[in-house]
Amino acid sequence: VIRYSHDTQITVSQFRDLLIRSTLAERRPVGDEAALKGMLQHANVLVTAWDGPQLIGVARGLTDFAYCCYLSDLAVDKTYQRQGIGRELMETVRGQLQPACKIILLAAPAATEYYSKIGFTAHPSAWVK
Ligand SMILES: CC(C)(COP(=O)(O)OP(=O)(O)OC[C@H]1O[C@@H](n2cnc3c(N)ncnc32)[C@H](O)[C@@H]1OP(=O)(O)O)[C@@H](O)C(=O)NCCC(=O)NCCS
Repeated sequence: VIRYSHDTQITVSQFRDLLIRSTLAERRPVGDEAALKGMLQHANVLVTAWDGPQLIGVARGLTDFAYCCYLSDLAVDKTYQRQGIGRELMETVRGQLQPACKIILLAAPAATEYYSKIGFTAHPSAWVK
């Protein structure tokens, strides 16, 4: 049985290891210890999924809880993908936010079809610098 938490801290090495196991590592600064540390330290939403002691999924975001939430990372261990864990992580994030709060994210190329399946709409004027 998979357990979800919204208040469990994780270490840099647990985070890095999960990013690698999810295949998201090539798009995240896994070789930069200070960056990973900052990502964990300053996130104010961190939802984790666990199979026993093993971290198998994470959703990490930055939010004011009322108006917007930037969902920076959603990652599920490859061997646990397509079992509803990503969907449940997002539901748990949603539960941390006030109802009108918008979740905003950039999809990785492998996940462009994913977010429409879990209720997101593509925004035609997102900008990145
Ligand atoms: C993308 C990811 C987070 C999805 O998590 P998951 O636990 O595998 O997804 P779920 O089981 O919750 O899937 C929900 C639905 O989306 C579908 N789906 C899952 N991954 C998908 C993908 N990459 N593309 C299209 N559809 C996908 C599932 O089949 C399921 O459909 P269903 O409800 O019709 O059965 C996970 O596969 C992952 O970590 N991928 C690698 C890293 C990545 O790309 N992260 C996103 C960064 S923006």
